[in-house]
Amino acid sequence: MEQALSSGPLTKAAYDQIVRVIDKWWGGPTTALAHPAFFYELGELARVVESEGRVVGFLFGFIAPTGPTGYVHLVGIDPEFRRRQVGSLLYRSFEHACREAGCSRLKAITALGDDGSVRFHEALGWSTETREDYAGAGRARQVFVKSLEPG
Ligand SMILES: CC(C)(COP(=O)(O)OP(=O)(O)OC[C@H]1O[C@@H](n2cnc3c(N)ncnc32)[C@H](O)[C@@H]1OP(=O)(O)O)[C@@H](O)C(=O)NCCC(=O)NCCS
Repeated sequence: MEQALSSGPLTKAAYDQIVRVIDKWWGGPTTALAHPAFFYELGELARVVESEGRVVGFLFGFIAPTGPTGYVHLVGIDPEFRRRQVGSLLYRSFEHACREAGCSRLKAITALGDDGSVRFHEALGWSTETREDYAGAGRARQVFVKSLEPG
């Protein structure tokens, strides 16, 4: 029977693994997005999913003061583990922690053309819009938000 996966906190050993594999998982240079501040200073709400001692998914996120807002900075799932609810597990765990901390909303962004990410956020009840010049002139981004207001 397949082992049930669960999410846990980000350890230094897990962070080190993520830095090693991240470019491969994303299919391009992404290491800069895994800045060590997302472990040392902003790692409290980060989550990882492991299978047989190996990281197969991670979420780097933190609480921004505006709102306050639970901000998902970076999510990665091992390509071999995609569409197995690993991303959903990480998002549920992060959302729960943000609700407990009194956040009123969640937010994330991605580059345009990432259809898998758009479908994923929509499936989890987030809304999405394209914002021109979001990351500077000519740098549009897909912006995802989810309200955490009760009711
Ligand atoms: C997007 C990503 C995080 C999804 O993680 P995942 O673990 O594969 O997602 P889940 O298995 O939890 O999917 C939940 C639901 O989201 C939707 N979904 C997820 N990936 C999808 C895809 N590529 N295409 C269409 N729908 C998708 C589906 O409705 C899915 O449910 P189903 O499999 O029962 O149909 C993962 O593919 C990934 O790491 N992509 C590369 C990095 C990235 O895009 N990060 C997000 C930037 S913020």
